[in-house]
Amino acid sequence: MPAAELDPVVILHERFADAIPRAIPDAPADADPLIAASKRPELGDFQCNAAMPLAKALSQSGTKTNPRELAIRIIEAVDLADIAEPLTPESIAGPGFINVKLRADALATLLTRLDTPALGIEPASTPETVVVDVCGVNLAKQMHVGHLRATVIGDAIARVFERLGHNVIRQNHVGDWGLPIAMVTTKLREEAAAGRLDLDALSLDALDRLYRAAQAECRGVTTSLRLAEKFRLGPKVEAELGAIQADADDHLAAAKSTLVALQSGDADTVSLWQRIYDVTMSACLRACERLKTRITADASAGESSYRDELAPIVEDLVSKRVAIESDGALVVRLDAEGIAEPCLIRKSDGGFLYATTDVAGIKRRVEQLGADRAIYCVDARQSLHFRQVFAVAKRAGYATKPGADRVARLEHAAFGMVLGEDGRPFKTRSGENVRLADLLDEAVERAGRAVAEKNPSLPERERAAIAEAVGIAAIKYADLSNDRVKDYVFDFDRMLAFEGETGPYLLYGLTRIASVFRKAEEAGVSIEVAAAPLMLTQPQERTLALTLLRYPSTVRAVAESLEPHRLCAMLYDLAVAFSSFYDACPVLRAPSDEARDSRLRLCAITRRVLADGLDTLGVPIVERM
Ligand code: ARG
Repeated sequence: MPAAELDPVVILHERFADAIPRAIPDAPADADPLIAASKRPELGDFQCNAAMPLAKALSQSGTKTNPRELAIRIIEAVDLADIAEPLTPESIAGPGFINVKLRADALATLLTRLDTPALGIEPASTPETVVVDVCGVNLAKQMHVGHLRATVIGDAIARVFERLGHNVIRQNHVGDWGLPIAMVTTKLREEAAAGRLDLDALSLDALDRLYRAAQAECRGVTTSLRLAEKFRLGPKVEAELGAIQADADDHLAAAKSTLVALQSGDADTVSLWQRIYDVTMSACLRACERLKTRITADASAGESSYRDELAPIVEDLVSKRVAIESDGALVVRLDAEGIAEPCLIRKSDGGFLYATTDVAGIKRRVEQLGADRAIYCVDARQSLHFRQVFAVAKRAGYATKPGADRVARLEHAAFGMVLGEDGRPFKTRSGENVRLADLLDEAVERAGRAVAEKNPSLPERERAAIAEAVGIAAIKYADLSNDRVKDYVFDFDRMLAFEGETGPYLLYGLTRIASVFRKAEEAGVSIEVAAAPLMLTQPQERTLALTLLRYPSTVRAVAESLEPHRLCAMLYDLAVAFSSFYDACPVLRAPSDEARDSRLRLCAITRRVLADGLDTLGVPIVERM
């Protein structure tokens, strides 16, 4: 355990883990001390619940014993003198729960150690290079609510690693290559040639329409045609369908030749493609900025950037016998890795696939960018895809950093879907995908109304900026606070509420602290309390201190689990603990100057942890609202 450990749970874990084998020599090796926050705070702050499973394990291996007896042996062996009240047989509750109450002075010492500029989070002693796949927009398509998650969660994970002092590289794997893009490029060329569209005034909305029109034109009716023949619907129907199909075939052929032109660098085609790229990406980067993420143009590494790397990689996979031929296509069989579905690497017509590009992406991220960890923040529905490409890359040796013999950690930080109130994928009333930009506008507008209602005296100018921050905070916090892999229901009313686990509730906590300091200054009380001794006598003060001490270990846990909702939950607990403290412990009217200064210092630490925690998640904050 590093000397700087501040989280009592971690400290107690260590102490009990050390005591158990001494107390019970025949205990299973690495028995978990099972330290948890106390369910009955009147008995203590924490409990060690190890005695019950230990007794069970021992009786299974033939030693008759009871948990209470083991608990007694454990409390005799464990050394907590420096941090906890002495343990006695009265500390043992029920069948063998050991209750631990921290000493107030030890709690104050720990919190004093946390109260540094770093807030107890020391920069990693061996910084790693962490590449985080974020956003993943597709050309000529509006960003929708699915991209919200890839953008917001991906950026939050990246920020956590930055906060811990790692070297972070964001990669926006833009879907900007392949046949669908060639289809819309073809369509754009036709529309511009026919004078139906001004290329200089091209909008993403217009592109989105063209994209869908192009898809429809190329789709064709082969299935209907086959059925018409099978059920003998007659020559007229067949002829009509045949004509539609021929038309679709023409469109598809045109798109394929556009793709060839793009691949060979034909100047006119490339410049059309560039136009589509610029229009899409400027909208995307605007959304990323509005969402207060650190995703900028230099993170863009689209599928197109891999185009010259695919053929050599496929060749390499063949020569290493990783890829084999199957019906004219190239596949990688992954039975050895426990994956039944082979990974298709090259189609029989010679075309490469989404998977081929991602294998190239891993190779670049590990070999060129130097990734120790490559994290993909992508929809859970792509989990088979990532299991496959990770396996292929490892088999081919692309996940091993040159010079190091360690395989990089490849991780899919999968997220669930955003659902509407009906429990189905979130759509507009007419069944369209909800545009991200519209969603943000609505959140900000609603936040504006809520803020105006709560604080009518806010000057108009200030209100707009506050509404923007509160609206974005509400959306981001709602997205981040839900268990990442689970689906969640998008609900404006709930995420914008000032009560419950919401962004506005956390921001409200911050504004209350800010007003404590304003009032202190108005009353002529010095707020220079950085060195005031902390006196943690009231239960609410203890709870607030205990919650604050969880901060560094929670940030570390997010880096390990890639689950930002753990930090959201800790910050929410902190806001709740602050609220109880604020209600129960008067600050400016504290019983003594010492108590007042101690409480002001508690307010200051809480403010810094809340602000730092929200910043680490990428949630904007406000001082007033
Ligand atoms: N463009 C993809 C999609 O919309 C997401 C890209 C995710 N990243 C990746 N490296 N495959 O589904």
